[in-house]
Amino acid sequence: MTRRITSVVGARPQFVKLAPLSPRLREIGEERIVHSGQHYDYEMSKLFFEELEIPEPDMHLSIGSGSHAEQIGRTLVAMERELIDHRPDVLVVFGDTNTTLGAALAASKLGIPIAHVEAGVRGFNRHEPEETNRVLTDRLSARCLVPTEAAVRHLAREGIRSGVHHVGDVMVDALYRARAATKDAEARVRAHGVAPGEYALATFHRPANVDDPEPLGEIVAAIGALGQPVVLPLHPRTRARLERTELLGTLEGYEHVRLSQPVGYLSMLALLEGAQLLLTDSGGLQKEAYILEVPCVTVSMQTAWQETVDVGWNRLAPPRRDEILGAARGFAGGASHPAVYGSGEAAPAIRDVLDD
Ligand code: UD1
Repeated sequence: MTRRITSVVGARPQFVKLAPLSPRLREIGEERIVHSGQHYDYEMSKLFFEELEIPEPDMHLSIGSGSHAEQIGRTLVAMERELIDHRPDVLVVFGDTNTTLGAALAASKLGIPIAHVEAGVRGFNRHEPEETNRVLTDRLSARCLVPTEAAVRHLAREGIRSGVHHVGDVMVDALYRARAATKDAEARVRAHGVAPGEYALATFHRPANVDDPEPLGEIVAAIGALGQPVVLPLHPRTRARLERTELLGTLEGYEHVRLSQPVGYLSMLALLEGAQLLLTDSGGLQKEAYILEVPCVTVSMQTAWQETVDVGWNRLAPPRRDEILGAARGFAGGASHPAVYGSGEAAPAIRDVLDD
């Protein structure tokens, strides 16, 4: 009997993780892709499906923006209906978003086994909504597909020892695949008015950094004082917050800052590979910077990707101008570069676990 697999995605980083896995899942069964609609703008969603050649979703839940309760609640209700109508043998969820937890809860209540890609990751800050989503989703999952040795230890400490598979990180698979396919990386960089090797790349979207004008103002001031060209693709959340203050005008006034719409995955990788430095609060980009050997300053007091800090490629800084600049100045990265996220073979390893 053909195995039926449902994969659920909804936010930008999840589309990237699905891209290398979907073809592998289709080797062992029929995959149905459900898009929750947590991200819905063209640049935040459809562009990723097009560039990464992910099959069109079979179902759109259209949950949209909203509070955490609204997003998780709408996903839970819509996923229950979806799972009753198309009862899969396994539900695959990714990462730590509200989509992940809402879908996992629905499956758990219906007795459908859950496989969690990127399980066991911990930032050790229970105030961060993603941490709640991680801990609860792991608890509900029959298969925890973990990216790192550290994640295996985190799960063991919480008493989760069976069904844990150290497969490596699918983002490495995604990155290698995209890089091999991108022929026009330099043109993608030059489209932003900078030359490879001569600029810093910056991205910000975490509520803790952008929702309140004070940290946001400090980050803008740090970008203003960076003393080299800065490419800054603006996440819709960040643009909305900047527009409410005079800070958008401040950024537009800096001659060295190149503001843009959110960019797709291929341009983001090209921009990152050509950057001298990354300034970010994105989880995924911290890892991608590490894989591409770009020094990273993360504007946060914690990271779920502590390995990158331990080996000297990532520095943490609070959202304060002087501390961000202090971390960024003269930062050239670490001395060694171990393959802590694996070798780009996570997707076939996940296929084999689910095939078993
Ligand atoms: C989610 C994830 C977070 C992930 C982030 C990636 C949770 C708890 N958080 O946050 O882990 O790092 O996505 O971006 O699930 N918006 C648009 N168009 C879109 C999408 C969003 O305008 O297509 C706006 C919305 O109005 C909203 C804000 O951006 O105000 C939300 O953005 P973001 O922080 O990305 O999304 P979350 O769903 O909150």
